[in-house]
Amino acid sequence: MSLSEATKARFAREVAKYPKEQAQSAVMACLSIVQQEQGWVSAEAEAEIAAYLGMAPIAVREVTTFYNMYNQQPTGKYKLNVCTNLPCQLRNGQNALEHLCKALGVEDGGTTADGLFTVAKCECLGACADAPVMLVNDRQMLSYMSNDKLDDLVATIKAAEGKGA
Ligand code: FES
Repeated sequence: MSLSEATKARFAREVAKYPKEQAQSAVMACLSIVQQEQGWVSAEAEAEIAAYLGMAPIAVREVTTFYNMYNQQPTGKYKLNVCTNLPCQLRNGQNALEHLCKALGVEDGGTTADGLFTVAKCECLGACADAPVMLVNDRQMLSYMSNDKLDDLVATIKAAEGKGA
């Protein structure tokens, strides 16, 4: 893979937000752009971002691996992250993760055979009072995720995808 001209143009708009000698400040934005376009961030994409921003590839890798919003492998169409940090743990966060894994027949971090769902635990989403909290496709936060609400979510997505029970 090499970066398309359209992707480079998006990178350039991000780099332009910073002083000339600080292009690497745009690294997170560039990683997000690649993930939006390809669904995940490959080692090859990291190397290309590093070259574009004048950074060491390992420095880009450190960012990709530090933040769990970056996918280091392809995911299902719906990435479901359940927070299991302490405040959520105290209000059934682990139970919510396990319930979702069981409902979909996957392990934590796994993807369903049909490629529809990936389930993984995640770090604090900053809404601890709403525990258990989860995030859908890195964008939509859902609160108070009881087992019933988790079941409803899965059923709603399956129905929308024509895979209803
Ligand atoms: S610990 Fe789960 S949102 Fe903060």
